[in-house]
Formats: sequence, C-alpha cells, structure tokens
Amino acid sequence: MVVQDNKDLLGLMTIGRICRMTLEHMANHLQPGISTKELDEIGAAFLKKHGAVSAPIMAYKFPGHTCISINDEAAHGIPSPDRIIQAGDMVNIDVSAVKNGYWADNGASYAVPPVKPEVERLLKTTRKALDLSLEIVRDGVRVYEVGKVIEPFAHQHGYEVIEELGGHGVGRHIHEKPSIPFYFNKRAKQKLTEGLVITLEPFLTLGGRHIKTMPDGWTLKTTDGSLSAQFEHTIIVTKNEPIIVTALG
Ligand code: CO
Ligand code: CO
Repeated sequence: MVVQDNKDLLGLMTIGRICRMTLEHMANHLQPGISTKELDEIGAAFLKKHGAVSAPIMAYKFPGHTCISINDEAAHGIPSPDRIIQAGDMVNIDVSAVKNGYWADNGASYAVPPVKPEVERLLKTTRKALDLSLEIVRDGVRVYEVGKVIEPFAHQHGYEVIEELGGHGVGRHIHEKPSIPFYFNKRAKQKLTEGLVITLEPFLTLGGRHIKTMPDGWTLKTTDGSLSAQFEHTIIVTKNEPIIVTALG
C-alpha cells in the first residue's frame, strides 16, 4: 500500500508495534524444552490481548498463528507440540498480523545457547544486511539496487542469499507488490516511491541459495540443508531514511 494520510500512518504504526512486541515476547520464552506450539500459543495470546489477528491465518489459513522455523528451515515452519527447542538450535520467529485493516510483518532469528561461532557470525551478518538495506531504500531508488548491494555483501562474508525469499509490499494485505529480491535481479526495476510500505527481509545461508517445500505443504527448507537466518522489518519509504513500522522506539 501507499500511505495516504495520518490515519494510514497511525494504523500501520499501531500494528507494527504490536508485531514487534509479540516477536520479542515470544523470543523471551525461547528456551530448550519448549515446543514450537507452546511458543506459538504465547504469541497468539499476546496478539489477541492487543486486538490483532494472525496474518498467516487470515490470509492463507496457515496452521499456526506465527511461523517458527528451526535450523535449515528458512521460513513458514508450522508450530507443533512435537517440535521441541533444543540447546544449540537456531530459531526463526516470524510474526505478521492485522488490526483495523492494517497489516505488518516482522521476523528475527535467534540462537539458543550454546551458540556456535559460525551461527553467531551468520546472525550478526544477516542483521547487518537488513541494516544495510535500510540505508539503500529511498524515494526514486529502483528495487534491484537492494540486491545489487546485499548479494555481494553476503558473498564477501562467505554466505549466499536465498533467491526465492525476500521483501514484499504490505499494509492492506500480507503480500502485496512489489517483490524485493536480495540478490541482483535486473528485472526488478520498479522505482520505490514515497509512502510505499514494504518489508525488508534478507535470508542469508551458510550454503546454497535455494529452498524446497516440505511434504507438509508449508515448511521451506534450504535444498542443501544449510543454516538460514532472516531479519525482517516493515518500513515506509520516504525521501530520506525509511520509517521503521515494526520498531519499538
Ligand atoms: Co515478510
Ligand atoms: Co515475515
């Protein structure tokens, strides 16, 4: 969507803040022994308390309120009572939700101690990739400029960028146009314009750049079994630094 007025801005900032708080609330409960289903229910209760509804359920009838993806699962992991968080796991939590017709989306990857140095480095670098992309998006910048910077940045650190996943428009639905690839794709030549609401969400891996869908029909794993990390914000494009919708500041 494109933000038209103060009502749009307020609606987005409200749901953005709820999504961030839910994500952090869930992350605070991340520990060995908890199931991804329990974690999801903690998130669901928090969303409900704040008058928000899960976007994956609303938009896709996803079998969970949030997506919880472990290790080589890149995204769309289904919360399950049988998936128990183990020491040393890397866990991605992705929370997207809707309130008063406004949709926001955010996610982050976390390491459960003991954390291997290679995991710590992947998390730090992926977070940096998100920060870098925030510095690129401005009114008038073409979408491919994001991947043009982030892909070489990932390679410099010995990582790959997942091609099939990336940012997207958001605001009046969970997935709107445009798609924002984090690898260089010269076809993504649309110009970003002031007021456009998008997510920025680089997925970096220790190995390859592709994913496959699991037989459950949802879970996306890296094809080579390598670890994947993602950090995601919803933002509004401006002439200068973007407004981060999913921040608590
Ligand atoms: Co997203
Ligand atoms: Co997301």
